[in-house]
Formats: sequence, structure tokens, C-alpha cells
Amino acid sequence: MSKAKGQQMKWVKNAFYSSAYNEEALADFSSDVISNVLQFQQTHPLYTHTPYVSLQNLADYLRVGEIKVKDESKRFRLNAFKVMGGIYAVGKYLAEQLGRDIGDLSFADLQADEVKEKLGEITFISATDGNHGRGIAWAARELGQRSVIYMPKGSTESRLEAIRNEGAFAEITDMNYDDTVRMSANMADEKGWVLVQDTAWEGYEEIPLWIMQGYAGIAKEMIDETENNGEQPPTHVILQAGVGSFAAGIAAYYTEYYRENPPKIIVVEPDLADCYYRSFSNDTGEMEVVSGHLNSIMAGLCCGEPNTRAFPLLKQYAIASFSCNDRIAALGMRVLGNPLGDDAKIISGESGAVPLGLLFALRSYENEHICEKLGLDENSRVTMINTEGDTDVQQYLDIVWKGHYDNE
Ligand SMILES: Cc1ncc(COP(=O)(O)O)c(C=O)c1O
Repeated sequence: MSKAKGQQMKWVKNAFYSSAYNEEALADFSSDVISNVLQFQQTHPLYTHTPYVSLQNLADYLRVGEIKVKDESKRFRLNAFKVMGGIYAVGKYLAEQLGRDIGDLSFADLQADEVKEKLGEITFISATDGNHGRGIAWAARELGQRSVIYMPKGSTESRLEAIRNEGAFAEITDMNYDDTVRMSANMADEKGWVLVQDTAWEGYEEIPLWIMQGYAGIAKEMIDETENNGEQPPTHVILQAGVGSFAAGIAAYYTEYYRENPPKIIVVEPDLADCYYRSFSNDTGEMEVVSGHLNSIMAGLCCGEPNTRAFPLLKQYAIASFSCNDRIAALGMRVLGNPLGDDAKIISGESGAVPLGLLFALRSYENEHICEKLGLDENSRVTMINTEGDTDVQQYLDIVWKGHYDNE
């Protein structure tokens, strides 16, 4: 075992973790609710189940029982998972405006001319690091509506172009992510537009919940596949967090479904935007915020303020939180893109690859003491989600071909 170069990660065991089943918190993620969500998502003609692959050679190499990766780079040809939240939230909003139950509607029903005649043209607005905005722009266009998308300072031109190509009016601001969200919320108020934001704060929690429920549709696909194949559920699920909507939606569904014996949830964030790590590190359990320009290659995870609806769920159900530097994400990208033996090759972007990078670092670089505390050993079945493909193609090549952000 060799020691990796540079400070790679910090971690904290979550002192606020409790395995107690919290009925109230998990009611929004019950099997009935999430079945309804997935059923609506499946009505889109482009819907397909994304691959959920086992990397057994890598598992043997890292001395764990199993590694499974759900590959969301294949989602709706959009190269990221985010649209699962956007499509459900936009659909649910239109259904509510029509006074209908989304469980009785399909995507095609909402595309009908009568919907536009009844509701007029709606403008959906959002702030994004890239993937969420692209999902909203795509969903709005598919439903014949308008979208306006703002991106934080430092966003790449290629990600901006991808959003404009989905028909949105889109621009990069000179603010960080959290300030860009605030600006978009103010514009929605002023202009009567509908804010579809993937994070919640006091007074704005309904649409973010729908987005989290949309993400939980991914967990339902995974669990359905595990159950249908008669496989054993995971013992550990490693989830990357920006504002935490994704991690909380997936964790909530896993915890609700396997309520007798839920998997251990581990949260991972970039060190420059590690609001969950800091919140779990303080004694009070209060939510902590990271501000300033959050500069990491994990653009999707560069959010310094937790979602107020996601935070209590992860505070109760995550066993630990990791704060990782960019080398860990780059390591994950290289490993997933260069498989061992007949393991599947996975094209994974910076935010998508960090859970695998973390697992690799935990099992390879003298971190046995941490593995022991997490119960991570040769019997563990570890699951994770590749949340994006090469959404920044040039950076992907720089990292995987040229070895940028190397770790040896
Ligand atoms: C690729 C990718 N992975 C993970 C996340 C994290 O999601 P959340 O902000 O809900 O924590 C994002 C968010 O934009 C993302 O783009």
C-alpha cells in the first residue's frame, strides 16, 4: 500500500446519526409515492432504465465483496441524472395548476395544446452549475414552455452552450452558486416566473421536495433491479453532495425501503464546498454554510449551503461525511474509464466519479483505520451512482489522458 500525495481527504463520523425509523421524514419517500413518480418519468418516450453494473474485478482488487455503479450518464441522452428531478418537478407543477393528480397523467397529456391554452405560456427559471439547468431547459422545451437559466461565475462555456442548445435563455453571472440562486429567486418574484430550484430554504420547500422525489426514482430503479434479480442489497451507499437534494432523495428511499436493515449511507463532498462535513463536525448539529468562490473541478458539487429539506434527512441517516480534494475525483474518473478485465467501462465526470475515487483511496492508501470504523471490509457490498458523464469533454480528456490532478 502506498501513501497518496497531498492532503486527500478529511472525514467525520456523524454523531447525529440514528437508525430509528422516522415515519414523518420518510413519508414523502414511501414506495407508493416514489412508484407514482417513476411511473410518470417512464411515460416519456425516451425513458430507459439506466445500467446498474457490477465491477467485480475492481471489487476483488479493492478487497470488498461487491462494487455496483448505476450509470446516470446514460439518462435521457443528457449525460447526467439531474433531469429525473426536473422532469418530475415541472410535470408536477403543471399537474397542480391543472388541478389534476400527476399519477393520472402522462408526459404526452401535459404536451397537449389544451394545457397551454388553459395555463398560457409559463417561464421556468433556475440557477445551475450545468446539469440541473440543462434538465429544466430540456423538460420545459419538451412541454412547450420557456426557460431562463443562470450559471455561477467559473461555469464553462461548453456547459452554457449545452443549456442554450436545449432552447433556454442562459447566461453566466459574476456570482457564486448560492448568490446566483438568490438572484434567480428575486427575478422569479419580480416577473411572475416559476422558480424550479434544486435546493430548498425556509419558505421555498415544495418544488425542491418534488425534485428530491424525482431523484428517488433512480433509487427505485436500483432497488427494483436488485430485488428482481434476487440479489443482496448493498451494505454501503456512497453519495456525492452539493446541496444534498440528490443524496437525501436516494438515502431516504433506501432507508424507507430497507427499514429493518438499511445500508450505511456515506456522504462525500469537495473540500472547498464541504457544508455537510462542517455541519457534522460541529457539536451542535446546526447547519453550516461555506461562502465565497467555491472552486473545484467537481462543479456539480460546488454548493456551500445545504438544502433545508435534505439536511435533516442526511443528518439522521448518513453515518459519515468525507471532504475530498480534486485528486480523489480525478482518480475515480481514471479508474472508471480504464476497467480491469471484463468490468464495464464507465465514462464518469468529476462530480460523478468522486464516490469511486473515495472508495479507491480508502482501500489503497493506508486508510484501514477509517475502513474499520465504517465497517468497510471484504464482505461489504458497495453501491454508488455515476451522476454525470463527460459533461466537460476537454477537462475529461485532460484528466484521463494527460493525468491532470494526479495522485501518486
Ligand atoms: C453531476 C452531479 N452530481 C451530483 C450533484 C449533487 O446534487 P445536489 O446538489 O442535489 O447535492 C450534482 C448537482 O448539480 C451534479 O451535477
